[in-house]
Amino acid sequence: MITVIGSMNMDLVTITNREPAIGETVLGENFLTVPGGKGANQAVAAAKLGAPVKMIGCVGDDLFGEQYINHLKGHQIDIKHIRRLKNEKTGIASITVWNNDNKIIVVPGANKRITPEIVESHREEILKSSWLLLQFEIPLESVERALEIAAEGNVNVIVNPAPYHDIPEKWLGKITYITPNEAEANQLFSAFANRENLLSKLVITKGKDGAEYFDQGERVSIPALKVDAIDTTGAGDTFTGALAVALSEGLPLKESCQFAVKAAGLSVTKLGAQAGMPSRSDLNK
Ligand code: RIB
Repeated sequence: MITVIGSMNMDLVTITNREPAIGETVLGENFLTVPGGKGANQAVAAAKLGAPVKMIGCVGDDLFGEQYINHLKGHQIDIKHIRRLKNEKTGIASITVWNNDNKIIVVPGANKRITPEIVESHREEILKSSWLLLQFEIPLESVERALEIAAEGNVNVIVNPAPYHDIPEKWLGKITYITPNEAEANQLFSAFANRENLLSKLVITKGKDGAEYFDQGERVSIPALKVDAIDTTGAGDTFTGALAVALSEGLPLKESCQFAVKAAGLSVTKLGAQAGMPSRSDLNK
């Protein structure tokens, strides 16, 4: 079982050919409201590839919350551990897509109310997992509690450090892999005194340049799939979800990265964070 503790956002996506300057109004091309959030994106990526997935997190008691839970159910994700919080809003992300790239502002809403106590109340679920996926769209003290519980049961953990925050050195021993993008990896390098220890945990996503990790200090590059990118939102989440699936099936790191790079490559060929995430048969084509 892959367990994700993390965010669920409704993504409010505007597609434009040109970004407005400050104080300027431009006409956009399209608008869509679609499920997103780094936590749920990773959960859906893994579930679409056929893994059993459990989502732990919070939504509000608004329409977005109800829609989100139904959406995850539709992907056969275990939603028993998602709380609907009274008088709270579901998280949203305001996303502008232009030029095959994006800018994102997240308003966390219910996601910021995933407390360490809520995480603690799911101790048994965490300990039953083979892999646990964590990101930084929930409070850091809750991420820390999840890591402590996982470490007690030797549960494998992937931390996706986004949005960026330094990773305390004391966390490193409890993490199996860290999946930053290039900018986040550079920030991590500057923050760490003991880079050797960090290096062995890193699997860096590099967009159209694929991914890389370090084998005993030697850089291993995994080339990207050649695709026409339409929307790169959620590509890193697809990578992390797919990486967990491959590792949970016992593939070595190199093959797992190849699997994840392919999944992430396919994911950018459709609009919306989750729409392009491949199924197992898409991946095997
Ligand atoms: O990683 C992409 C995600 O970041 C979007 O789906 C958005 O919700 C933000 O959390």
